[in-house]
Amino acid sequence: MPRSSRFLLDMLELDRGADLPLHRQLYNALRAHILDGRLPPKTRLPATRVLANDLDVSRNTVISAYDALLAEGYLDAIAGSGTRVAALPAPPARRRAERDTPELPQLSARGGLMTTQPRDRTIPGRIAFHPGYPEIASFPFSTWSRLLALAMRNVGEDLFGYHLVNGHPRLRSAIAEYLAVSRGVKCTPAQVIVVTGTQAALDLIARLFMDPGDHFWIEDPGYVGAYSAFLAAGGEPSPLPVGPDGWQLEMPNRPPPRLIFVTPSCQWPLGLVMPMDVRLNLLHLAEKHDAWIIEDDYDSEYRFRGHPIPAMQGLDDSGRVIYVGTLSKTMFPSLRVAYIVVPPKLVEGFDTAVSITGQYPPLLLQAALADFISQGFLATHLRRMRRLYARRQREFIARCRERLDRWLTVGEADTGMQVVGRFRQPLDDRDVLAVALRHGVDFSPLSRHYRHAPPEQGMFLGYAGVSSEAMRVGVERLRAAFEEIEKMQLEKTPGRSSNTRRASIGPPLPLISVLPEMSKNLRKSGKPDLRRERAGERGQRQLSRRTR
Ligand SMILES: Cc1ncc(COP(=O)(O)O)c(C=O)c1O
Repeated sequence: MPRSSRFLLDMLELDRGADLPLHRQLYNALRAHILDGRLPPKTRLPATRVLANDLDVSRNTVISAYDALLAEGYLDAIAGSGTRVAALPAPPARRRAERDTPELPQLSARGGLMTTQPRDRTIPGRIAFHPGYPEIASFPFSTWSRLLALAMRNVGEDLFGYHLVNGHPRLRSAIAEYLAVSRGVKCTPAQVIVVTGTQAALDLIARLFMDPGDHFWIEDPGYVGAYSAFLAAGGEPSPLPVGPDGWQLEMPNRPPPRLIFVTPSCQWPLGLVMPMDVRLNLLHLAEKHDAWIIEDDYDSEYRFRGHPIPAMQGLDDSGRVIYVGTLSKTMFPSLRVAYIVVPPKLVEGFDTAVSITGQYPPLLLQAALADFISQGFLATHLRRMRRLYARRQREFIARCRERLDRWLTVGEADTGMQVVGRFRQPLDDRDVLAVALRHGVDFSPLSRHYRHAPPEQGMFLGYAGVSSEAMRVGVERLRAAFEEIEKMQLEKTPGRSSNTRRASIGPPLPLISVLPEMSKNLRKSGKPDLRRERAGERGQRQLSRRTR
């Protein structure tokens, strides 16, 4: 019997003081659950002795209720497999409900906005080449599980109550120290608020600062997660265009903002770094308009060339920058831990607001995380991933240049975990995605990241979480997709038949998965398997020697 049905029967209440006999009460309750579908067809009911024991009634009471239900066709007794709920036709009310298209219940204006935002959906196991995915298989899971188990046993710290909603003090200190050293952020531990991911941070900030109709400036192209959070809070978007020459701050008649959202250390999706004069200008504008800058510093730990670029927050002397960082890229996304560094004057307000939203991660996890950071495991993992991603980017670009050059130019990125590819001829990136998905490979169309400006077409490609082998297969699949598109274009030229086009579209291939590789690695008790990567790198060196 499914656990849910078992709970249901445990909850049955029989009234011993009522006039109705117990067997009839039990019959009524079971019949009602069968009719309303909570005990679905084929559900096996407990043996009479077991249910009698659970309900503290005589076995005859249960037998009598079961017998009545059997006689009326609600139950079937099947030799060797006990008593089961019969397959009844659905009652008329349910059939009507199933037939009608489900309508959203009446929502608030904000609810309506929230439920109609664009969403970037990802599929478990599918990573090649979805941007924003870190390497998971090399994460030190054995260390992580040891620290989690230790936190669980550490009763001295009281990690089991309702307290510390802003974050565990040890974690806030560890994050403040880490940010000062690695990102040039100026803050005390009290300014660090720990929340369940950047998305929670953006939702909280939007709700705290924006009234319906307030304007927010947002990079265009930019991060759809931020756009949706501010829009859902009733904000009015005003684009901050970003082009090959960077951020265009000066725009006549732009309404004054309440919030300004930027990704200055690695612009999402173009990968640009905001120059110092633009940073200073933006700080000046924020002060002039009494606005807040939200600095989303999501993956700038991965800088491969040149000097590290410190966060903009470190330049801010007037307390205008709200800095947001995440562990989704430096550890793994499902951890759901991010941090907001708020100016000192906002600390108290955030304290209360976080407790109302409930968007704080479990204290046990935070305690383990504090140990993971302060004992140097995060720094070690980051160093290794920085090297790995630099290798992977080189390998990916070399492969693209070797196999896709006819259709695509892929630029290098100094920071981050993804690169942008641009088509050599006019193509609609969503059409290209549709064909690529059929070939079992994924990417993010560049146009999806534009809101106002005419969208650029291209491919936003994540390489960081893709092993050498998956990368090789993925690039071959992209090549096959481009070849198919080329054929389709030829078919469209006058005087050619369309047979080849139909023939070339076979059944969809399964998407490239990270999971088999990962489970192999996990079996080795969390020890990362960099041998494959090194082998990939050696192969890559040979490949580039050959192509030189
Ligand atoms: C621009 C940007 N910021 C932040 C994040 C991370 O969000 P979260 O912390 O909610 O996982 C992402 C994820 O891809 C992102 O693209």
